[in-house]
Amino acid sequence: MYICICKGIRESDVRDLGKAGITCPKKLASALELNDKKNCCGRCIKNISKFVDLAKEEQSCPQSPVLG
Ligand code: FES
Repeated sequence: MYICICKGIRESDVRDLGKAGITCPKKLASALELNDKKNCCGRCIKNISKFVDLAKEEQSCPQSPVLG
């Protein structure tokens, strides 16, 4: 699911960054190029906390155990 139309960022992209340990607002904004005033509407940088929440969810969720 796309969460940023301007940059074509999917929820899974943010989760992948969280898995890689990138969860702070500045690093996420930089990695996702959300500070790009020319090509962004500005909505996502204002709501960066939502991106942080998504990234942190990935960090705090250990791999699901294999059922069987
Ligand atoms: S929709 Fe993400 S910056 Fe515009």
